[in-house]
Amino acid sequence: MEVPVQRNAEAGAAAECGALADPAFWRQPPQARLDAFARLRALGSPVYVPEGRGRGHWALLRHADVQEASRLPKVFASAPGVTTPEPARWVRALFGDSMVNLDGADHARLRKVVQRAFTPRLLAAAEADVHAVAARIVDDVLAERPDEFVSAVSSRLPLEVICNMMGIPERYRPEIADRVNHASENIGVERGLASRLRMPGRGLRALARMQRMVAAIGRERRRDPGDDLISALVCANVDGQALGARQLGAFFSLLMVAGVETTRNAITHGLSLLTDHPGQRDLLLGDFEAYADGAVDEMIRHSTPIIQFRRTVAAEHELGGRLFRPGEKVVLYYASANRDEAVFPDPDAFDITRSPNPHLGFGGGGPHFCLGAHLARVEMKALFRELLTRPVGLRAVGLPDLAGSNFDNRVRSLRFAFDAPGDA
Ligand code: HEM
Repeated sequence: MEVPVQRNAEAGAAAECGALADPAFWRQPPQARLDAFARLRALGSPVYVPEGRGRGHWALLRHADVQEASRLPKVFASAPGVTTPEPARWVRALFGDSMVNLDGADHARLRKVVQRAFTPRLLAAAEADVHAVAARIVDDVLAERPDEFVSAVSSRLPLEVICNMMGIPERYRPEIADRVNHASENIGVERGLASRLRMPGRGLRALARMQRMVAAIGRERRRDPGDDLISALVCANVDGQALGARQLGAFFSLLMVAGVETTRNAITHGLSLLTDHPGQRDLLLGDFEAYADGAVDEMIRHSTPIIQFRRTVAAEHELGGRLFRPGEKVVLYYASANRDEAVFPDPDAFDITRSPNPHLGFGGGGPHFCLGAHLARVEMKALFRELLTRPVGLRAVGLPDLAGSNFDNRVRSLRFAFDAPGDA
């Protein structure tokens, strides 16, 4: 049996590797974390991160390694869970396995049902809706002049778009917004013992209530289907399959974290990046349609809204110069892969003209590649078009207040202001 800690120690990196399991590492300023990733990448192979009590994981930090592992689902399995730590068995039993945590035929069946429901007609309607929602949010902002960006702008767009797509009645929405916040505010954030005991309970209760609400809507739609995603999911007939109440609830919760949290954080980091890099902002404003796609992808690469996903080794395999054995835990650090100097010249620079930009912000390819990548890009482009092309000089004020999560690059809040009065 290999002694991984020894191997790290020989490389002179034991302390640095251990730091990845320390909550304090994730509370550091982002550049300090990125510098540590760069030093670990330079070691040239996966490194072992001891988590205490005999547990630990292998960290994949290089772009090539993360991409290869993502595309080998029979070796690097998503079951029993992709978050660190993995969800308890009772949590999975209660909530039904979400598709991110499934493999092989189980995953393919669920993904097919969901993918079929995202029909071109539904997606075209969603895209038209994105533009209308983005314009309305910016109208509200110009009229009301709030000063906190997450609540006023970035969290509103993805939530409204998904609720519209799903056909969630207006009366449920404020409650859903509140519950999504409770459910996701502490994912991957380590706190004091008291709050650690209290917060997961509060988050789980919020999820359970949200799932009951969605199950009730699903029952209504089965009786009386509409032109929305919930109707399509509960009535879908792919190989005789539609989503049951528990699967619908699990999918809705996944969308709330995977589709709302991620996009809101990408948008918030985006405003901060454009404010910190006025040259890039001027370039974008000079010809928005020419540079917007590149700007959106560079915002996603630079901020990497999902920092990491975990896999469990299911079959012996050599990757990055190391032989992996069944049962070992492996963490795919997208945040490090997206700054890999072997792929991205001057990786810490924010450069909206970067081309190619093969970032792994939506995953490294393979069967779990982000289902909402196109929608997220459409949302970001529409919102920045509205925010930047109205003559009000919108900019971030100060630094984003980061949650310090090891899972998502969550921004709790970001203050913003206008340089010009504008013509709201
Ligand atoms: C900037 C925004 C987003 C980012 C950075 C992001 C990132 C990711 C990542 C890293 C994965 C895992 C990929 C893998 O394991 O290979 C993923 C999966 C997923 N995403 Fe996204 N996502 C975003 C927006 C969205 C949106 C808007 C939706 C839906 C409307 C969505 C739905 C999903 C779903 C359902 C999965 C699971 C797919 C599966 O397991 O088969 N995401 N996303």
